[in-house]
Amino acid sequence: MYRKWTWPVVFTLLLFTLGLPSAVHSQGGEDRFDWEGLGRRTYGTICAACHQTGGEGIPAAFPPLKGYLPELMALEGGRDYLPKVLLFGLTGPTVVAEQEYIVAMPAWQSLGDDEIAAALNYALTSWGNAELLPEGLELYSPADITAARSEQLTPIEVYVLRGRIFGVTGAEASAGSAGDGLIFSDESGYYTTSQAEAGAEVYKRNCAQCHGPRMAGGLHEPPLTKLSFFRTWGGLSLDTLYNYIVTKMPIRAPGSLSKSEYLNVVAHWLHRHNYPAGDQALVMTSEALQQITIERR
Ligand code: HEC
Ligand code: HEC
Repeated sequence: MYRKWTWPVVFTLLLFTLGLPSAVHSQGGEDRFDWEGLGRRTYGTICAACHQTGGEGIPAAFPPLKGYLPELMALEGGRDYLPKVLLFGLTGPTVVAEQEYIVAMPAWQSLGDDEIAAALNYALTSWGNAELLPEGLELYSPADITAARSEQLTPIEVYVLRGRIFGVTGAEASAGSAGDGLIFSDESGYYTTSQAEAGAEVYKRNCAQCHGPRMAGGLHEPPLTKLSFFRTWGGLSLDTLYNYIVTKMPIRAPGSLSKSEYLNVVAHWLHRHNYPAGDQALVMTSEALQQITIERR
């Protein structure tokens, strides 16, 4: 409790007496949140360990925040999304500056709302980011973080939310051009029966012990088929789910299956969910997978 209150009050009083200039984007007035010192300290003691002091990150391990955060802020929903990454963590895979990141981002729920807001403001305005921010972007106040905290998401839900913000939903992808000319529809089917059969075997050997023989979930493992599953994933493209499975599952040996085994297990999932089979094999290009929307059938 003392962290949440005493400190900013003392700090604020101090800054007011010193009469420091206010930051460009912060709201003015009496309730201005003086985040500068707290932000530098929080970033330096926590975030910099991974994202580095200069925000440049480490390729393939920790994404850069320099240059990238303004891009994120320019997306619709980006400003609401960012605090959720900090509060609830993020389980990838994500692609930032053409580099894939598979390691998960830990959740920082134990930090105070003021610390999270301050660290974010610091990262948003450092390393040349300030000049790239969208016009009129409001920096974060502790109240923004308080509001985000009430949602209680899982890292997977944050990943899915990210997919929605970056616009990789099935609906949008299939509205665009397909790239390689593959168009899936109910008539042409989404996968072949032999893929689904091979996938059933892959599932039995590699997934069933945790997610259950009928995908209903285990004691500690989520179902792949119930309403809760569709509440999270529904409306997204199959590409997002496929990438998650390939980089994160089976949970103790992620990436251990061959690409065709992963693809077949997804075909098995489609079969289990009444997506029709056809002559056209499910292929592994993201253009093709993006045309299929995850929905309850
Ligand atoms: C232990 C290492 C670690 C620490 C400490 C850490 N992060 Fe991260 N962060 C990651 C990793 C790994 C990812 C990529 C996650 C992924 O792609 O699944 C990431 C991703 C991010 C992203 C990108 C989210 C997106 O959707 O692309 C932001 C923003 C971020 N971190 C901010 C912060 C801030 C601010 C702090 C300090 C409070 C922090 N991180 C502390 C490891 C860390
Ligand atoms: C050793 C147990 C284990 C095995 C084996 C395993 N998983 Fe998982 N799986 C989990 C756990 C635990 C989670 C939740 C992870 C989390 O919350 O970060 C999960 C999450 C998932 C999710 C996301 C579900 C959701 O609710 O959003 C999918 C999809 C998935 N697994 C598919 C698979 C597939 C396909 C296989 C086989 C190739 C597999 N898993 C093998 C334990 C396992």
